[in-house]
Parts: sequence; C-alpha cells; structure tokens
Amino acid sequence: MATLKYHGHSTFTLTTDDGTSIVIDPFFDENPLSELRAEDVTDVDFILCTHGHFDHFADAIPIAKKTGATLVATFEIVSYAQSQGVENTHPMHIGGSWKFPFGRVKMTNAVHGGQVAGEGAEGFTTNPAGFLIDLGPGKRVYHAGDTALTMDMQLLRGQVDLALLPIGDNFTMGPDDAARAIEFIQPKVVVPIHYNTWPYVEQDPEAFRKLVGDRARVEVLAFGETLEL
Ligand code: NI
Repeated sequence: MATLKYHGHSTFTLTTDDGTSIVIDPFFDENPLSELRAEDVTDVDFILCTHGHFDHFADAIPIAKKTGATLVATFEIVSYAQSQGVENTHPMHIGGSWKFPFGRVKMTNAVHGGQVAGEGAEGFTTNPAGFLIDLGPGKRVYHAGDTALTMDMQLLRGQVDLALLPIGDNFTMGPDDAARAIEFIQPKVVVPIHYNTWPYVEQDPEAFRKLVGDRARVEVLAFGETLEL
C-alpha cells in the first residue's frame, strides 16, 4: 500500500506499493516541526528536492551520502551535490519527465527564488520546481514546492489525485491563492504544507479547510502522520 508521511513544513516520505522509499524536500535537523532527525532517516531509495533553499534541501546531501539514495533535482542542484561527493544522482529540469522504477516524475514550474544553499554553492543558482509523481491510477501526487499561484497550474487539471500545496503566505501562496490553485488543478485530496514552521508562515489549516469547502477534501496532517494513497 502506498503511503505519504508528513514530517512538517514541506517534507514527506512517500512509500510506494512495492516499498520504494522516496523522501521529498528533506528538512529534518533544523525543522522545528519534524519528529525525526536526519540521522534517523535510513533506507531511502530516492530523494526529490523541489529547490535549493535550506528548508527543502538542508539534509539532502547528508542523507544521500549515508543511504546511497539517488538525488533527483534540477541539473544545477545535482551538480552542486556531485561537487560535495553525492554519487547517485538524476538531473532533470522544468517540463521534463522521466520514468523511474517506481513511476514517472515530471518537474513542474514554480515561481519562487532559485538560490542553492550550502558551502561553496554560490555558483549553483537554479529554477525552483514542483514534482508531479505518477504512482499509478488514483495515486498521482503533485508536490508544488514553494510557489506563487500560477496560471501554469491549470495545465495540471485532470492529472492530480493528491496535491501538496503551500498555504503559509509571505514566501509562497497563502490560503486564498491555494484555494484558487485547487480550482485550477481540481485534485481529489489536498494536504496543506509550508505553514506554522516560523512566525512568517503562521496559518490556521482548519480555516483553510473551511475556505476550500467542497472543492476538494483537505487532509490536515499532524507531524509524523501517515496518509494512505
Ligand atoms: Ni523556498
């Protein structure tokens, strides 16, 4: 059974039907919401990073080195990770997709900042992205990354069962725009992300649920909680 476990902020562990473990936007050690530390994260097969900001990328390199997991990210982030000794990588870029053993992954547009965080990373600015992860019928997961509301989200309509959407405002879209994103995408289920980590992104997920109404089922996940796909 495929499952999605929330670690707070934008960090998830997605486990496929066949047991493949995919960590998305690994941010554990400095994440005030996470129930895990990076050293507790083992048995990872793939790491997907939407962009290079520290709160999405901070633990990617240590976990990739420790577990041998394949890092999937933009060409520039992968190039930086390689310069830091990460051996298993798969570079992609916006609009491209690739059939991995667990399913097809497409890198989607996101409107946000492109800096890559890390020592010696100054030359590795990149485009921020989201991921459309197709694990099969009824299990198409869209992780929006950090982004504003974009008209591009309309292109995802009919392709998403579960959408992971930022609602924090200030750095990304807030609740009102996330609700509009739901109208664009029309997913069955929505999990709000990127909120309540710090004062800049304080939001009430229950108010967001009310705002969305019958446009989608909103699943507010506690830290460490698992959702079955
Ligand atoms: Ni960011």
